[in-house]
Amino acid sequence: MPQKTKKSTTSQKSPSKTKAIRASLRLRIPNSEAHYGGNLVSGSKILEYFGDVATELLIRLDGDEGLFRAYDNVEFLAPVFGGDYLEIEGQITEVGNTSRKMLFEARKVIEPEPKVAPSAAKVLKTPTVVVRASGTCVTPKNLQRNLE
Ligand SMILES: CC(C)(COP(=O)(O)OP(=O)(O)OC[C@H]1O[C@@H](n2cnc3c(N)ncnc32)[C@H](O)[C@@H]1OP(=O)(O)O)[C@@H](O)C(=O)NCCC(=O)NCCS
Repeated sequence: MPQKTKKSTTSQKSPSKTKAIRASLRLRIPNSEAHYGGNLVSGSKILEYFGDVATELLIRLDGDEGLFRAYDNVEFLAPVFGGDYLEIEGQITEVGNTSRKMLFEARKVIEPEPKVAPSAAKVLKTPTVVVRASGTCVTPKNLQRNLE
């Protein structure tokens, strides 16, 4: 398991403001993204979407895309298939000197019903959480442009 190499220092931004920073994507996974048997989508694809959400969070906080440093936890909770619609959400939970801790969740909201008809699909009454993760991004000091 990766270890922190430096301790975070005090945030330059008020926690109430940074905790309010959220970003989300809503998308359909095309069948062309299916990678494994049965139209299963690779978990790394969802991590790519988390990366896009993380990038938006960093732009909103720092005016810079920053870099993903480490995931400390990733849980694949339910399979994702080509044709699924997902909501991907992230939020900043802690701001350090250059580090920004984040939480992510991907939820399935629509899924195909190929056994009913090739074009059939249904809206899930309750979205299914498919992936949860937490991680840390870094915006180097000289690239932080939205400091107040
Ligand atoms: C991200 C990167 C710029 C960080 O380099 P760095 O500044 O030398 O990293 P450091 O080890 O000094 O750590 C920077 C911060 O991250 C924190 N950190 C480091 N490793 C960590 C880990 N495993 N988990 C959580 N936080 C960590 C440090 O505590 C420090 O926080 P602070 O500044 O708030 O005190 C560098 O590692 C890099 O370029 N990595 C590749 C990034 C990449 O390509 N990602 C994939 C695509 S975005």
